[in-house]
Amino acid sequence: MKNKIELLEKNRKISLLGGGEKKLQDQHKKGKLSARERVNLLLDPETFQEWDRFATHEAHNFEMQDKKIWGDGVITGFGKIHGRPVYTFSHDFTVLGGSLGERFAQKICKIMDAALKNGSPVIGLNDSGGARIQEGVVSLGGYAEIFWRNTYLSGVVPQISIILGPCAGGAVYSPAITDFIIMVDKISHMFITGPEVIKAVTNEKVTFEDLGGSHAHSEKSGVAHFTAKTEEEAFQLCRRLLSYLPPNNLENPPSLKPTDNPERQETILNEIIPDNPNKPYDVREIIKWTVDQGEFLEVQPAYAKNIVIGFARLNGKPAGIIANNPSVLAGALDIAASLKAARFVRFCDCFNIPLITFVDVPGFLPGTEQEYGGIIKHGAKLLYAFAEATVPKITVILRKAYGGAYDVMCSKHIRADANFAWPSAEIAVMGPQAAIQIIFKKELEKAENPEKKKQELVENYIEKFASPYAAAARGYVDDIIIPSETRPTLIKVLSSLEGKREAKPPRKHGNIPL
Ligand code: HXC
Repeated sequence: MKNKIELLEKNRKISLLGGGEKKLQDQHKKGKLSARERVNLLLDPETFQEWDRFATHEAHNFEMQDKKIWGDGVITGFGKIHGRPVYTFSHDFTVLGGSLGERFAQKICKIMDAALKNGSPVIGLNDSGGARIQEGVVSLGGYAEIFWRNTYLSGVVPQISIILGPCAGGAVYSPAITDFIIMVDKISHMFITGPEVIKAVTNEKVTFEDLGGSHAHSEKSGVAHFTAKTEEEAFQLCRRLLSYLPPNNLENPPSLKPTDNPERQETILNEIIPDNPNKPYDVREIIKWTVDQGEFLEVQPAYAKNIVIGFARLNGKPAGIIANNPSVLAGALDIAASLKAARFVRFCDCFNIPLITFVDVPGFLPGTEQEYGGIIKHGAKLLYAFAEATVPKITVILRKAYGGAYDVMCSKHIRADANFAWPSAEIAVMGPQAAIQIIFKKELEKAENPEKKKQELVENYIEKFASPYAAAARGYVDDIIIPSETRPTLIKVLSSLEGKREAKPPRKHGNIPL
């Protein structure tokens, strides 16, 4: 036995080396951590249990029989984050560029199946050249097995992808189905096909960084949800994100012992909205003064900045926040903002995270670019997402709630549980200037002094419509609150909604306008 244990210990040491010392050094020289270092930084110390460390491929083509490495290029297993179980896999770029073959895929599928069975999140650490070319169609099949599981697990356990190197081909589609993608500045690259293929096919010249770097995906494509400066920061971000999430769809998100006064009223909130309705302000100020300790984990902060989404806590309990931001495009809803918010709303609904919506929206962004891009169907996604969500939904109208955007932004009519308005709220079909031009066109043409007449009509319109009282009279808003009362009101209402149950008619699934 002694000899056998010694042999096992020796083999374990060998398996730790992946593609070997030289390849590990190359990985470090590129400023990247090794697959094992990553797992250790992600998880609580000493909690990792590896699976399949002695797995190898069975490929023979291209002398692959001489390139068998224990683990086959991916480290898989489970451990803990904040003391709660998670399953993880970490691509090892030192083994055939982290490329995915049959065994590699089987290892990932095995831990995904276990995560589903045990109701725990899956965290993928991705650093891969995509399908392993030498294994041919078997690699493609392996990817498809993972894609299928990504879809099957979607909405059952949270799935998070951290991109830690070049991720090409199949290595980007799996992350794309997961709930959140975290990239690292200068280290992560994601693309369907790399610069060389692009040059060959379309003659377009583009660098790795411009094509698929963290800036491209956090600012332009919206593929990335978070960007970190270093790998360490990416793991911290992932751990922080998980602190807001339940382990699966049957459990509630984790409550922390409250550390902030639930009755806290911030009078500064009474000063944030400018008197001039056309003046911008940053809605994140309002979020900050409302939530516990001002802590807000913003999701996709650099993409579609006209809407703000993210996680915070109210009296220790997680909430998903959606807020129009008047400091960008006056807070108007466009295609990108609708997509960004719709996916977030659906994520929160999957995982029992209540939704708090702050509304200051002048409407949908007009113009041919938006119409040709399909604002009708993309805006409808947000409408659909809010309407189908059955988690507690609370809406606070801060200022403008005009037109269709009033309906869309979690209005009472699409089944928000509680709707509040600040006294500054203006709830109407459109803003005063535009409305007057349409309904009093003839009167204005005939008027002796059109400017004076217009002024009178605008004032009358503002008195009648540009306030929350008409909506409050009909019960469309449940109360008009002083801004400083927002935090205690939200906390009170959230606690009243803890037992919320909402049944849906039997159906296979709805048909969100994709
Ligand atoms: C097998 C691969 C590989 C692959 C890289 N390697 N990609 N081996 N299959 N897909 C190997 C290299 O041969 C090399 O082996 C080692 O990994 C490191 O690769 P380098 O090219 O030296 O590294 P680097 O310069 O850093 O470039 C990394 C890279 C590049 C950008 C990932 O290797 C690359 O472009 N690979 C192909 C990417 C791609 O097009 N993938 C798509 C596959 S199709 P040695 O032995 O020399 O160290 C796909 C479709 C799936 O994934 C289904 C989708 C729906």
